[in-house]
Parts: sequence; C-alpha cells; structure tokens
Amino acid sequence: MIRIEGVRVSFDSVTAVSGVDLDIDRGEFLTIVGPSGCGKTTLLHAVAGLQEPTEGRIGIDGEGPGRARDAGRIGLVFQEHTLLPWKTALGNVTFLRRIAGKPPDESGARALLESVGLSGFLDAYPRELSGGMAQRVAIARAVHLDADVLLMDEPFGALDEITRDELGVELRELLQERETTVLFVTHSVPEAVFLGDRCVVLRGAPGAVEALFDLDFPAPRETSLFTDSAFQERVADVRAALYAEASPRR
Ligand SMILES: Nc1ncnc2c1ncn2[C@@H]1O[C@H](COP(=O)(O)OP(=O)(O)OP(=O)(O)O)[C@@H](O)[C@H]1O
Ligand SMILES: [Mg+2]
Repeated sequence: MIRIEGVRVSFDSVTAVSGVDLDIDRGEFLTIVGPSGCGKTTLLHAVAGLQEPTEGRIGIDGEGPGRARDAGRIGLVFQEHTLLPWKTALGNVTFLRRIAGKPPDESGARALLESVGLSGFLDAYPRELSGGMAQRVAIARAVHLDADVLLMDEPFGALDEITRDELGVELRELLQERETTVLFVTHSVPEAVFLGDRCVVLRGAPGAVEALFDLDFPAPRETSLFTDSAFQERVADVRAALYAEASPRR
C-alpha cells in the first residue's frame, strides 16, 4: 500500500501541496482531479521519488519512493508518450523492462501490444504512429514493466474522446489480473469516475484533499456505464466538489 502522510512540497516561493494524507490500497485504482496548478503533478513526482517532500513522508509498502523506483517498482506514464524514437514499438516496450533489471518477456510484450490493438505495428517507429497509437505503446510499456505502482499524469490528455474511452477500458482490462496500484491524474471528471475505484478531489493553493469518493461500480467497466444514472450522479457529486473548491469561500 501507498501511505502519504502529512506531505508538503514547497518550492522557493510556492507551496504546491500541503497537509496531504492518503492511504491507497494495493491494487486500488485512485483517480485524482483538481484545478490546474493545485499540485497533482507535484504529488505524483513525490510518490515517484522524483521530488523530495519538504515535510511529511511517503511509503510504498514501507519503502521510500526513491528505493521503490530504483527497484523498478514504479511505472510512469505522462501526457506526452516519451517513447524512444530510435526503437520500434516492441523495442520500446521490452527496453524499459530490461533497464529495470526484470527478466525479458518478449512474448508478453507482443501480447500486450496486440491487446491494445497494435498487432500490425510492432516494428513501427514512434514517428510512424499516430498520437493515440504512441500513447497505447507507452501504456503497454508501463504495464509490461509489471511495476507495483503505476503513476499516470493525464495520460489520455492529448487524445480524442473516443480513443480516451477505449484506452480507459483497455487499461482497466490489462490491470484486472494484476495487483497494480494506480494513481491516475485527469482533468476529465467522467473519466475519473469511470476508471477509479476511488476518486480524490484536490483543492488548490496549496493543494490538499477536498473530498474522496468511493466508486463501486461493478467490473468490468464498459462504456455503457457512461449512460447509467448512478454513474451520472457520481459525476455530478465529483463535479460539485470540484466547483465548491473553485469558488471563493474563505
Ligand atoms: N519545479 C518547480 N519549481 C517551482 N514551482 C513549481 C515547480 N513545479 C511545480 N511548481 C508550482 O507548484 C504548483 C503546482 O504545480 P503542478 O504542476 O503540480 O500542478 P498541477 O495540478 O499538476 O497542474 P496542471 O493541472 O496544470 O497540470 C504550481 O504553482 C507550480 O507553479
Ligand atoms: Mg500537472
């Protein structure tokens, strides 16, 4: 499990997040929403061990984030795909696992790329892929790492709505039989409600937890959920928390 305890991250003149306490269970899919600049990326960087908290602690099964990252226990997916341009789709997927010191599993990598609809593009280079295809490769690469923790910062942000919805369904499917813990930042409230087991709404300046929602819709999540009335109610609840945050009140 991931334990975030009293975390504050301050830069020279700005406190990005302050007083954040969150426990995230093993295998949980936690979505994170909040206004721009409220510290979502900073929080993910802290969990990834890329940013030392100014105050407080983060533990990943009791281990510090830096050690967890060095041990290949943390996978990252950002808005931009960050694929290596000189490696093929398959090469990108297998390479990260190799540098993390994990045993090679090329057939697993092929199967993952096939399951995200890229069976015809295993030998294609990133420049030959559309944005959505490249992002599929980045997701396959992160899943293939078989990390305990997957940190995703607006991974579908640059994609059209249909591709986002499809990738969301695929991501949940890929993770279904794994025990991966996911922290997933998005600006889309429906996406946060669709994908998450829980959703945390952050407030800004400095970032802190505003509200937490349980999202106990049955698995597998399918796009038909978008028209479900319980789903739409949850979307309205999360949106209300987000808007409450955005309006001045103190
Ligand atoms: N390396 C840094 N140095 C100084 N200030 C920073 C640094 N990184 C982030 N900040 C500041 O911390 C605050 C939170 O930034 P962060 O990128 O975490 O927000 P965010 O919630 O991810 O926003 P967005 O939704 O726009 O991606 C902002 O005020 C930003 O200017
Ligand atoms: Mg950000």
